[in-house]
Amino acid sequence: MPATILVGGFFGDEGKGKIISYLATHDQPEIVARGGVGPNAGHTVIVKGKRYALRMTPSGFVQESARILIGAGVLVDPRVLLEEIETLKIRDRVGVDRRCGIIELEHIDADRSDAHLKGTIGSTGTGCGPANVARVSRKGRLAKDVPELQAFLTDVPLEVNTALDAGRGVLIEGTQGFGISLLYGTYPFVTSKDTSASQMAADVGIGPTRVDDVVIVFKSFPTRVGEGPFETQMSEERAAELQIEEYGTVTHRKRRIGAWDGKMARYSAMINGATMVALTGVDKLDPAVKGATERDELSAKVNEFVALVEKDVGVPVKLISTGPELSEIVDLR
Ligand code: GTP
Ligand code: IMP
Ligand code: MG
Repeated sequence: MPATILVGGFFGDEGKGKIISYLATHDQPEIVARGGVGPNAGHTVIVKGKRYALRMTPSGFVQESARILIGAGVLVDPRVLLEEIETLKIRDRVGVDRRCGIIELEHIDADRSDAHLKGTIGSTGTGCGPANVARVSRKGRLAKDVPELQAFLTDVPLEVNTALDAGRGVLIEGTQGFGISLLYGTYPFVTSKDTSASQMAADVGIGPTRVDDVVIVFKSFPTRVGEGPFETQMSEERAAELQIEEYGTVTHRKRRIGAWDGKMARYSAMINGATMVALTGVDKLDPAVKGATERDELSAKVNEFVALVEKDVGVPVKLISTGPELSEIVDLR
């Protein structure tokens, strides 16, 4: 804090939702604002055994005093967002920028029926690609035109910059991951927008000079869903031996599992301007550390891995996640 951006350093699903929910609860920012593509993302947050699968709502909603905002760069599917607002009971503190692009049913149909998007690229079928095409074509509809969203409309950059001027904390929540960035990822097997920290700043309307910290999230065993190259991918047999199996939050597709990729991690930390690393899933490396909250509870195996990550990335590891639950974390800040 004050202005902290959190991004994914591999191919998405690094556990950003978990880390954000912890930071929101622990650091108590005044605002948690979401950047990123849209409801193609699925953040999983587990608080005291209760599991939330969020597609539009910032994961920082778990901090009940926080204002939760969706930046202008984010595509909104009103059906998904309105359902989450009701389920999570956040009506009185959620704000949507009036300039957010809208996902129409025709965008979802186009995403799901397009052989290239659905078949070759393996899109999530949530309409994000076609909705961004509409926006770039200057034919898109914006949040300000949707009657059901009127009660939530706001100017996100104004709220965020005003909070920062007053010295308050703002947590900016990125979605997706570096490897599926439209600019820097494994094109054409990428999402429909950049996914780096600079893009997240633009999505919520702050300039580069306002950013204090960039937290990059890496998972100990990176994963990838959808098509495209994955240099350190391991065989299904090897993943089964390690007892690692994951399924997508949005599409329920089986995630491909890989080994730590130090080269990719260093390059992505560079482009993101990372100031600290959050490392998730060390309990998959060594189940003995599951649930640890103190550094001295970590094993030699995990400490060696953390040292390797710091050497590879060149940025200190400050948060070590030892399980999916919000409280399962070692905070070294
Ligand atoms: P996107 O925004 O879609 O990229 O997702 P995300 O980065 O928020 O990650 P997502 O929640 O989709 O996937 C991460 C998975 O790992 C979830 O099932 C989390 O509950 C789980 N998880 C997060 N941290 C840890 C951890 O330290 N250990 C274990 N075992 N699981 C974790
Ligand atoms: P789209 O963003 O739905 O067009 O999907 C394009 C590619 O990005 C596909 O390989 C998806 O699986 C991947 N993708 C998009 N969003 C996420 C995410 O939040 N986590 C992981 N993969 C994603
Ligand atoms: Mg996800």
